[in-house]
Amino acid sequence: MLVPDIIIAVDGYSSTGKSSFAKLLAKEFSFLYLDSGALYRGVTLFAQENGFISADNSIDVPGLEKGMESLDLHFSNVDGKNVLFCGERNVEKEIRSMKVSSQVSPIAAVAEVRVFVDRKLREAGASKRVVMDGRDIGTTVFPNAEIKLFMTASAEVRARRRFDELQAKGENPQMEEVMKNLQERDYIDSHRAVSPLVQAPDAFVLDNSDMTFAEELAWVRGVIQGKFGILE
Ligand code: DC
Repeated sequence: MLVPDIIIAVDGYSSTGKSSFAKLLAKEFSFLYLDSGALYRGVTLFAQENGFISADNSIDVPGLEKGMESLDLHFSNVDGKNVLFCGERNVEKEIRSMKVSSQVSPIAAVAEVRVFVDRKLREAGASKRVVMDGRDIGTTVFPNAEIKLFMTASAEVRARRRFDELQAKGENPQMEEVMKNLQERDYIDSHRAVSPLVQAPDAFVLDNSDMTFAEELAWVRGVIQGKFGILE
């Protein structure tokens, strides 16, 4: 299918399979895949390592803002994958840890952090032919994205996915803790003052609780064909 030069925004709750699905779309249409959550995770790691966030989630916002002035977070291609670097350091593994997951939502609620990340995302998406996943891509970062998808799935299905993902990475997750983290993040992400997680009015909703990737892909092809009048 020949897809025009567009931006595909994939928003939704955590562990709905957004990133796997967005990667699949990028591969299918030969688009660039960009994971906006990775940048929030990168800022969280930076805040943790530099003492800008404490165990009780209190954040030294002025310190963090100053620190971000010289924070070099960028994506680089490693073996065909877009991987997050902090300067010369590949931080892909650390940013996916439970430690970072447990503090990323309060960091992502800081307005100054969102300004920092939004600027990087807009630069990265300027060339179009991009699939970007996150929470506010279709509402705030690229409100004019041609295709907006909003992904959701039941809390049980999502917790199981996150659990399996952590286990596959060699962590030792507890299901109760994973579920609690997921619910807390849902709450913070949907209730923060700046750019909360909301469905864009023009987004297509995909509940993939009981769908395979092949079914999801077929669905999105239908959405794109319908929108652009492509006959295949
Ligand atoms: O998709 P993820 O789990 O890697 O995202 C990590 C956190 O970053 C998530 O709790 C919410 C935040 N986030 C956000 O606020 N806005 C985005 N566009 C992407 C992620």
